[in-house]
Amino acid sequence: MTELLLHFDDETVLAEALAHALGCALQPIRRHRFPDGENKLTLPAKLPQRVALLRGLQQPNAKLAELMIVAPAARDLGARHLTLVCPYLAYMRQDMAFTPGEAVSQRHIGAALAGWFDHVITIDPHLHRVATMDEVLGGKRGTAVSAAALLGDWAARHVERPILLGPDAEAAQWVRLAAAAHGLEHGACSKQRSGDREVAVALPPMDFAGRAVVLIDDVASTGRTLAAAAVALLAQGALSVDVAVTHALFVDDALARLAGAGIRHVWSSDSVPHSSNVVSVVPLLVAALADQRA
Ligand code: R5P
Repeated sequence: MTELLLHFDDETVLAEALAHALGCALQPIRRHRFPDGENKLTLPAKLPQRVALLRGLQQPNAKLAELMIVAPAARDLGARHLTLVCPYLAYMRQDMAFTPGEAVSQRHIGAALAGWFDHVITIDPHLHRVATMDEVLGGKRGTAVSAAALLGDWAARHVERPILLGPDAEAAQWVRLAAAAHGLEHGACSKQRSGDREVAVALPPMDFAGRAVVLIDDVASTGRTLAAAAVALLAQGALSVDVAVTHALFVDDALARLAGAGIRHVWSSDSVPHSSNVVSVVPLLVAALADQRA
């Protein structure tokens, strides 16, 4: 079982809840930023054998540099089994070379994490053409759990007879999970992305007139995908459009854009700390860590 959970100061709320649920010790990793931009990272001087590190990879680049140092440092200090608990795992959308010469970042980030950690636990990674975390991690063990059922349950309890809709084909997997427990109507749109901020969404052939729709997705970044779907739904006479996503990245003016598109509520899991967080991923992470023990 996990003896110690390590964390950084910007994820204290989730770390405290997780350590409490696990009944394990919690210690911070302290950071000092030198004037030239380098980090000094300080861990507890002596570590137990089974250590987990909580680190979500929203805004990933600086955090990956920290993981590159923390993982071997933890082993130097006594950790024998090191698990990365990574609620949001970045770089999963780049799973093929879309143009010649383009790096397949998913594969390379996966290989780096597999080299640093014995196990990686994450939530709703954007797996599409590559189906499993074992493939991402190059044979090392990985666990993916899903917050979709929690979001579906929230929608069922807060919206009258909702239709759950994925804004693109990849989202069909999460919408199915979200709809299952309450037997909710569901479907998925198709999406064409022509740039970081240019998307076109086509609705599936369903009757949305007078219906409350909840858009379900793994991650919202610029909000363009959700906004395009909402505009199309309201144009077809939907009564309301709400949003429930696992990972609330919401960069720049994303929230204002969603409001401007007519979206009523924005809900998310607390995998990424954000004002829209309404459901807790702690039970999912506890179960994944317990499974790892088996
Ligand atoms: C990709 O297909 C993901 O599931 C999301 O739909 C996408 O990343 C959302 O990006 P944005 O909010 O920038 O449209």
